[in-house]
Amino acid sequence: MIKKDFRNMTLFCEQLPYTHLAEEFGTPLYVYSKSALTEAFENYQTAFAALNPLVCYAVKANGNLSIIKHFASLGSGFDIVSGGELARVLAAGGDAAKTIFSGVGKSEAEIEFALNAGVKCFNMESIPEIDRIQKVAARLGKVAPVSLRVNPDVDAKTHPYISTGLKANKFGIAYADALEAYRHASRQSHLKIVGIDCHIGSQLTDLSPLIEACERILALVDQLADEGIVLEHLDLGGGVGIVYQDENVPDLGAYAQSVQKLMGTRRLKLVLEPGRSLVGNAGSLLTRVEFVKHGEEKNFVMVDAAMNDLMRPALYDAYHHIEAIETKDIEPLTANIVGPICETGDFLGKDRTIACEEGDLLLIRSAGAYGSSMASNYNTRNRAAEVLVDGNECKLIRQRETVEQQMANELACL
Ligand code: LLP
Repeated sequence: MIKKDFRNMTLFCEQLPYTHLAEEFGTPLYVYSKSALTEAFENYQTAFAALNPLVCYAVKANGNLSIIKHFASLGSGFDIVSGGELARVLAAGGDAAKTIFSGVGKSEAEIEFALNAGVKCFNMESIPEIDRIQKVAARLGKVAPVSLRVNPDVDAKTHPYISTGLKANKFGIAYADALEAYRHASRQSHLKIVGIDCHIGSQLTDLSPLIEACERILALVDQLADEGIVLEHLDLGGGVGIVYQDENVPDLGAYAQSVQKLMGTRRLKLVLEPGRSLVGNAGSLLTRVEFVKHGEEKNFVMVDAAMNDLMRPALYDAYHHIEAIETKDIEPLTANIVGPICETGDFLGKDRTIACEEGDLLLIRSAGAYGSSMASNYNTRNRAAEVLVDGNECKLIRQRETVEQQMANELACL
């Protein structure tokens, strides 16, 4: 919840001015609003109320323990893609029995960990993976609850790097092969088929591909039932887009209504795996202007955050709204907002018109999803600190990293 106080012309997160947060915790700083997280989760529950879905927060969007803990307290389940993410869910008090293990290349060790933890379901993406889960489950004397991630071959019409539902993508089992893969799975002694799953991509701004995917998956559900393979749940993945700039985003109520209509009287529990739409607009990256550099052709606002903190602009040419925390009576300039990393791709915003000068604070919006979770140490930069704001209170939920911590696992042995 970002608000502007027009008397002081400064931005607030809930009831706290960003200027105070920067003073207390330094920059670059990820700032999350607890009420925005809650509201986003409740939006799903309200929109889909008639279907009583299990909302499994996709941990990859932001795996901070406090954020997981908060969603767990709201009743959320989790969607994970690694043993590491499962460890996070368990450490934060999340329920393994509400956790779906997705991902295209699970190792035997990860499968063993998840089986012992008692996850709700493994979303399997290939025949070799079916065989691998069967093997590990047999060795442990357990029965693995499984579902197949089917690739419905639907164009999600999003950035090619985050589109996953087309034939050419590495994800899921091809639609045409799905029945045979289910038959194969049903013959395994240590697998129990419980569901079906699809996830066609991320940052979807159009509802129709989601509906089309649902329709195609339900057709398979019926064919499976005809063969005596009766499923307990339908998992439609994540993918609902958020507003970064001026996108139209899918209306959750309309999505829910369409799904309900398509599901009809089928007795299936609905599972959803939203990531971005739960955390994306609940978080921002707060950064300070180091200085303004007037180049020959372009101006550059050099800030203390960089592509290692927020990779999305460099990787996907993604737009994040950037604004000054304090409104100043100075001439705005048009500039690229860039970090100090030695790469031309290190930009956070291009050709932005902004009124700022050395020492000012800027807010990079909509950075709650795939911001800190994709951060790196490139150029030996410490990962940013993170805070969670709740009304007029603020908690540090990740300490700023130190160079000593970065070097701790390295050995200078020659
Ligand atoms: N389920 C599965 C199996 C997924 O692969 C993903 C995201 C989700 C759920 C959550 O999707 P969401 O609701 O967040 O769209 N780094 C990219 C996004 C990659 C998404 C990968 N999979 C970005 O910054 O835009």
